[in-house]
Amino acid sequence: MLQHLEELKLNALQELASTGTIKELESWRVRYLGKKSNLIKILRSLSTLSLDERKTIGASANKTRADLEDRLEQRKQALREKQLKLSAKEELIDVTLPGHYPPAGRLHPITQTLHEICDIFVSMGFQIVEGPEVEWDYYNFEALNIPEEHPARDTMSTSWVDFETESGERPMLLRTHTTSVTARVIETMKPPIRVIEPGRVYRYEASDATHVPMFHQIDGLAVDRSITMADLKGTLYEFSRRFFGEDRRVRFRCDYFPFVEPGIEMAIECPLCNGKGCRLCGNTGWIEILGAGMTHPQVLQRGGIDPEVYTSFAFGIGIDRLPMLRYGINDIRLFYGSDLRFLRQF
Ligand code: DAH
Repeated sequence: MLQHLEELKLNALQELASTGTIKELESWRVRYLGKKSNLIKILRSLSTLSLDERKTIGASANKTRADLEDRLEQRKQALREKQLKLSAKEELIDVTLPGHYPPAGRLHPITQTLHEICDIFVSMGFQIVEGPEVEWDYYNFEALNIPEEHPARDTMSTSWVDFETESGERPMLLRTHTTSVTARVIETMKPPIRVIEPGRVYRYEASDATHVPMFHQIDGLAVDRSITMADLKGTLYEFSRRFFGEDRRVRFRCDYFPFVEPGIEMAIECPLCNGKGCRLCGNTGWIEILGAGMTHPQVLQRGGIDPEVYTSFAFGIGIDRLPMLRYGINDIRLFYGSDLRFLRQF
């Protein structure tokens, strides 16, 4: 019997060494350690043996079982490791390769420009204020010296909101400029005031390479004792220096806006031709980027600020043109087409 056990163990170990998969290992286990295996049968029949035999054979059979179980575990471990290495080879896993980055979004070029301009004015002491995009006629026009029959209304094609008051008026619109926020600020804040008002504005217009029905502006307003045109020019000059660079020349000229007196426009030397004249600047060498002026005394008065005590300057910058100038983009519609091939470049 002892010899039989010895042979059994030898066979078992030999076969174990030739198993190559976890499946083969399992069938080996059933054969040598399973309920119907010879070894287990021997262990079960111990009770039929004499006491002496039971002692020696029992001890040897139990030891064989423990040995086989140990070796089974070792083999299982070895096979598992082998399999892992194999599959790594098959799938050509190169552990030194960097992983896949999840796609990350970024800010839209117009938003980046808005942030950049806000940063410049904030560093000069201006505070950011926002107002509603659906606006009352009063703040968009009336409070800014543009009464109902005023011809200046014709320069801003307006989208009216389909809402009628009891008396049949339609006083709500999509704001045509962020100057409407200026009208609100004059009414609600007390001088000294230094604010900038970024946001979307709307015009009822067909789109082409330089027009879209929704675009962006930043208006600015400063109200204090003895503010002059020199403050306005200094502020805008500093803005241009910071945004377009030290060498870009700027030009101030007279202009007309009903809510300022006097009114001016600011142009920068065309970045494409450096002032020589090209298609972008219509051969003038200059590109107009903003309107500005000294806030009209009536506008201050209407908002509850005494124009005898306080003076004020205001300006309004068209934003969408600025990244167009900076990057040489020739069609404003590209900004709003959601084409990632375009947007990813910024
Ligand atoms: N709101 C004007 C426009 O959309 C621009 C403008 C001009 C704003 C002069 C101002 C200003 O605040 O002072 O054309």
